Amino acid sequence: MELLRIDKILSSQNIASRKEIKSLIKQGRIKVNGQTVKKPEEKLDPYSCRITVDDTVVLYKRFIYIMLNKPKGILSASRDSREKTVLDLLPTELNRHGLFPAGRLDRNTEGLLIITDDGDFAHKMLAPKSHVYKLYEVTVDRALSDEDIEAFKTGISEGGDAFKPAGMRITGERTALVEICEGKFHQIKRMFHAVGAEVQELKRIRVGELSLDADLPAGSSRELMRDEVVLALSRRRAL
Ligand code: URA
Repeated sequence: MELLRIDKILSSQNIASRKEIKSLIKQGRIKVNGQTVKKPEEKLDPYSCRITVDDTVVLYKRFIYIMLNKPKGILSASRDSREKTVLDLLPTELNRHGLFPAGRLDRNTEGLLIITDDGDFAHKMLAPKSHVYKLYEVTVDRALSDEDIEAFKTGISEGGDAFKPAGMRITGERTALVEICEGKFHQIKRMFHAVGAEVQELKRIRVGELSLDADLPAGSSRELMRDEVVLALSRRRAL
């Protein structure tokens, strides 16, 4: 059991800034197990104590996991002074300190992006040795064939990088599903480029066994449920 300061607990949950919390405490608006908190330094276990602000219960979450349907044209970065990033798309009730995108999608790539403040989770999801596969819908500029499937299955080298074997299922003349467990720079575009095809559209639709929510319009986000967080780390492949 870890005891944490009440002001730190509340600011980590995006309730208010530390300064504002100090003033809420002064005004007697914060209670722990029914007792009015007197000082911001007061320590408690956020999991077992009942914390209220103006009699509304604060549900403490150590980490938060968000599914974003990333639209094209937005940068996958934490913050950028000049440009809008995926974090700028989050509604205020989900936005809190320490969030970052778990992996990057190129500016013109759309689809499933997980935003979290849990570094261990992100590492597990991204490390190639975890074998968490990411599934993409791809449109290219030429007809695809079984030879492309074979080349992807064998493993492609491009620009000094050797990519691990990848799964491909052709879904139309110029469309395919592709599954990879690495996240090298422009990986899918470079893999197709190596077999003489240029990617025109790219959308990530699945991470592990977690699929992009069909009810989530581009640019929208929602918090993941606990079992969905587990699905996002599954090694089960789609192809
Ligand atoms: N591969 C790419 O080329 N771009 C992405 O955004 C993701 C995978």
